[in-house]
Amino acid sequence: MNYAKNILETIGNTPLVKINKLTEDIDALVLAKVETFNPGNSVKDRMAIKMIEDAEADGRLKPGGTIIEGTSGNTGMGLALGAIIKGYKLICVISDKQSKEKMDILRAVGAEVVVCPTNVEPEDPRSYYSVSKRLATETPNSWYVNQYDNPSNALAHYEQTGPEIWKQTEGKITHFVVGVGTGGTISGIGKYLKEQNPNIKIWGIDTYGSVFKKYHETGIFDENEVYPYITEGIGEDILPANVDFDIIDGFTKVTDKDAAIYTRKIAKEEGIFVGNSAGSAIKGLLQLKEHFGPDDVVVVLFHDSGSRYVGKMFNDDWMRDRGFLDEEMTKATDLIKDHVDKPLVTVMTEELVSHAIDRMKKYKISQIPVKDSSGFIGSVDETALFRAFVEDKDLADKPIKEVMGEAFPIVDKDASIDKVSKLINKDNQAVLVDLGNNKYHIITKHDIISAIN
Ligand SMILES: Cc1ncc(COP(=O)(O)O)c(C=O)c1O
Repeated sequence: MNYAKNILETIGNTPLVKINKLTEDIDALVLAKVETFNPGNSVKDRMAIKMIEDAEADGRLKPGGTIIEGTSGNTGMGLALGAIIKGYKLICVISDKQSKEKMDILRAVGAEVVVCPTNVEPEDPRSYYSVSKRLATETPNSWYVNQYDNPSNALAHYEQTGPEIWKQTEGKITHFVVGVGTGGTISGIGKYLKEQNPNIKIWGIDTYGSVFKKYHETGIFDENEVYPYITEGIGEDILPANVDFDIIDGFTKVTDKDAAIYTRKIAKEEGIFVGNSAGSAIKGLLQLKEHFGPDDVVVVLFHDSGSRYVGKMFNDDWMRDRGFLDEEMTKATDLIKDHVDKPLVTVMTEELVSHAIDRMKKYKISQIPVKDSSGFIGSVDETALFRAFVEDKDLADKPIKEVMGEAFPIVDKDASIDKVSKLINKDNQAVLVDLGNNKYHIITKHDIISAIN
C-alpha cells in the first residue's frame, strides 16, 4: 500500500507548471513552482517542520512545550500541522493587516491567535515582533521560533525546494524569481541553485513600502522607504538574518495595485488559484522581461493559496474601494454605481433650512436638490448656505425656497462622462441623472474625482 504515515509526509514535491498566457510576451520558458500543493497550502510547511525538528534536536523545544511565533498565517499553518502531529501547543501572533481568513484558518487547526496593530514601529511594545518575544519569556516551557532569523528557515529550502527545482528543470534553470519576506525561500533556494550553477540569476520581488531593494542596491537602510502597504507576505521594515543579500542579483518592486490585479489574472488566465505574493512575483517577472532570452528557463515560486484572499484581492468590492479595479467608466450611471441603490436625498421648498442642514449632516452630503409638487426646482449647497448664514443669523428658520439656488441640470442616464463633467463647475455642484420611471440620482464633484484613478 502506498500511504503517508501522517500529513507531514505529504509536504514537498510540488509540481512545476508552465505559465502560458500571462507570459506570452516573454521569449523564455516560464515555469511556476506551485507551493499550494503542500498540505497547509503554502511553501511555509517546509520550513515550519524543519524549524520544529531542528529545535527538537538541540533541546530548544521540549516535549509538551508551547511554540510561539509572529506569523502572517502561512508559517503558522505549517507550525500548526507540526504541533498537532508532534503534540505541542501553538500561539500565533499576527498583525491586523492580515486577512481574516488566515486568522480563522489558524484557529481551525488549533492555534491560539493574538492580533497586533500593523502600523507601529517594530520596537513598539504592541508590534507583533515585540508581543511574540514577550509571550515567549512569559510562557513556561515555550520556544520562540523567530522565522526571520532562524537559520533552519533558509536551510529547509536549501535542502528541499532548491534540489526539487534543480531536478525538475534537469539543471536547465537560468533564473529564479520569488517574493521576499523573511528571506528564507530566496536565500535557501538561491544558495543551492548557485552552488550547482553560479550563472543562475536570483531575482527578489519587493513591494513599495519595504526596505529590501534600496538596501540591496546602496547598502543604506532608508527609513523613508518604509510606509504601510497592502501586499501580503513580502517586503519588510527590518533586515531579517535570513535574507542573504549576496546571493540575490537584484530586486524589483511591484505596486499593491499590480500585485492585486495579477493575483486575479493568474487565477483567471492560468487556472492557478494562488495568493497575493504570487501576483507580485509574476508581475515582477514581467517587469524583468528584458533580462530573459529564448533559451532561458525562468522559475517563479507561488507561495500560497488564493483561498486565503477571497475577502480581499478576489473580492470586487474590496478591489473597487482601493481603486484597483480598472473598470471602464464611460457614462453617467457608471459614476454612481456605488451608491445608486441608496435613495436620493431631497428637500421640499416649504421645509426649513435647518431641515436641509440636518439631512446634510446625517447623510454626510454637501448639496441637496430641492423639490416641489412639479419636480426639481432648485438646489442648496453648503457653500451657498454658509455665505447666506454670514449675512443672516436667523437663516435656519427660513423656508428653503428663500435661499435655494438654481436647480441642478438633468442628464440622460447614458450621457457621457465628458458631458457630465462639463456641467459641474463652481456655480453648479452637481448633476441629476434621469434613470427612467420617475427615478433620479445625483452625480457630485466627488463622484467625478473618484472616477479619476
Ligand atoms: C504569502 C507569502 N508570500 C511570500 C512570503 C515570503 O517568503 P519568505 O519569508 O521565505 O521570504 C511569505 C512569508 O511569510 C508569505 O507568507
